[in-house]
Amino acid sequence: MDAATTAGLSPAPTTHSRLLAWVAEVTALTTPARVVWCDGSDGEWQRLTGQLADAGTLVRLNPELKPNSFWARTDPSDVARVEERTFICSVDPDDAGPTNNWMAPEEMKQLLGELYRGCMAGRTMYVIPFCMGPLDAADPKFGVEITDSAYVAASMKIMTRMGTPVLDVMGADAEFVPALHSVGAPLAPGQADVMWPCNDTKYIAHFPDTREIWSYGSGYGGNSLLGKKCYSLRIASVMARDEGWLAEHMLILKLTSPQQKVHYVAAAFPSACGKTNLAMLEPTIGGWKVETLGDDIAWMRFGDDGRLYAVNPEYGFFGVAPGTDDSTNPNAMRTLAQGNSLFTNVALTDDGDVWWEGMGTPPAHLTDWHGNDWTPGSGAPSSHPNSRFCTPISQCPILAPEYDDPRGVPISAILFGGRRKTTVPLVAQSRDWIHGVFMGATLSSETTAAAVGQVGVVRRDPMAMLPFIGYHAGDYLAHWVDLGKDADPDKLPKIFQVNWFRRGDDGRFLWPGYGENSRVLKWVVERLEGTAGAVDTPVGLVPHPAAIDTEGLDLAYADLAAALHVDPTEWAVEVPQIAAWFNQFGEKLPGILWTELDSLKERLR
Ligand code: GDP
Ligand code: PGA
Ligand code: MN
Ligand code: MN
Repeated sequence: MDAATTAGLSPAPTTHSRLLAWVAEVTALTTPARVVWCDGSDGEWQRLTGQLADAGTLVRLNPELKPNSFWARTDPSDVARVEERTFICSVDPDDAGPTNNWMAPEEMKQLLGELYRGCMAGRTMYVIPFCMGPLDAADPKFGVEITDSAYVAASMKIMTRMGTPVLDVMGADAEFVPALHSVGAPLAPGQADVMWPCNDTKYIAHFPDTREIWSYGSGYGGNSLLGKKCYSLRIASVMARDEGWLAEHMLILKLTSPQQKVHYVAAAFPSACGKTNLAMLEPTIGGWKVETLGDDIAWMRFGDDGRLYAVNPEYGFFGVAPGTDDSTNPNAMRTLAQGNSLFTNVALTDDGDVWWEGMGTPPAHLTDWHGNDWTPGSGAPSSHPNSRFCTPISQCPILAPEYDDPRGVPISAILFGGRRKTTVPLVAQSRDWIHGVFMGATLSSETTAAAVGQVGVVRRDPMAMLPFIGYHAGDYLAHWVDLGKDADPDKLPKIFQVNWFRRGDDGRFLWPGYGENSRVLKWVVERLEGTAGAVDTPVGLVPHPAAIDTEGLDLAYADLAAALHVDPTEWAVEVPQIAAWFNQFGEKLPGILWTELDSLKERLR
């Protein structure tokens, strides 16, 4: 069957025969009512959002407050990534490793093939050509998402470079990652649609050997915008392993000191642990400047000069809404104020704006993320804790001009961070690359609402990549070790560990965080430039409280000291946990990481 004739629309705007064949195959399997090739134009966005507003999935916000922006509410069961339903379907089960769910590729394809049969009936199938990273890259990474969700099509326009310009560069035979998505909610003739179609059965399946993605049953961002986690992390991490680069869950920022020295910093924190905020940080210390390059994903490869260069493959921000306001992240607020954004599972104000927890005093009345009346006395939060804004990166007022440079930016420092109430100091520098890889490999964090499941449980999250490594985590750690072996140690980024979330005995955060994190970045830069001292502790090089610039900061010395404190008794508890964590990787774990654990034990004595 020919996709274009099925659609009854204009012919497919490409001569790419593999793409045409795949679209025809999916059309025959899923039997949509029509097929639309997305061109990425503003007119198309107007059409899609207009249709979604007519259908009740989107509510147009007040154009004077948030121009060209919309409010969406999901089904209350479809609010976050579903790690339990996420599969790495490698041919060899050992390639998925102990940290991923695995199913044999042919078994998964059979199972999903049945679910996909007729699953787009009554719906429009959108074909979305996209490119992760700049289109003028030497080796552009293409994908094509097929989806039956107009919400996904509209979101992909914000999050990726997509549409006709991508097809033009793809030409007739470029490689691309086929990424198939369905909400799994076919419509019988005459059947009325629901506001947020989805299915209780969900699969987020990856086929790393053939570089394919099949997603079913969820419309939520991380499960449905397949260029993001599925392609740019899970599939790309496999490409990176094979091709000698890194696909990481990292923000990228540009830091300029008062002396006009520039350093690029990448930082990996688990979902909902501060990447977007740090990426857009407004320094509280004079003369320092932060510019944003990316807030979630970094692709890093060594340049000819031996330095590690990072590119943000995305084109928008998909940020956690609660906690974002003019005091914590003013640059996110400025980005959103320009409009052209989608808001999902936040609250709606009576004058047609959005509101969420953390924006100061709540209004007297809101419509909450369930669509119900909400007042400050309601008890439950008005917005889901994983509610999100989706907004174009180009609107960020502190966007670094280099964000679009296909060569990327040379990284001076990598930060690994987590959300830990205890134990982990505000900042510690690793002794060398291997010790830094050990810090990343043993990173731990409390779970958050970004994934379905219990919140607040401490788990190991290597390089903040636990849910995103597309292969065996032991091989992944070995890849990090190997990259360092082949590199010039003077040119490798220096590795640091941070924790903005340590608490006092009374439960308060010890460190004010947000813009004040610039004070930690300053110490990091001073370490890079060899101008700051550090205390040699069992877990790394930690600043003496006096080495952190606290000018103008209203913070008790005791709190800063407690935030920086390395307590050997707390760390003694970590050691057996790290050993148990390492043990599950068996032979795959690089022996040098066991050596690092031994020397940590030794230093704690
Ligand atoms: P991301 O998901 O890693 O990008 O994390 P975000 O930057 O969106 O932050 C997730 C949540 O943590 C939000 O509610 C933020 O307000 C909060 N957060 C971010 N940075 C800090 C910080 O430095 N200190 C504290 N206490 N909270 C933070
Ligand atoms: P986050 O992105 O890291 O900004 O939370 C979404 C996610 O990781 O699920
Ligand atoms: Mn993320
Ligand atoms: Mn984020």
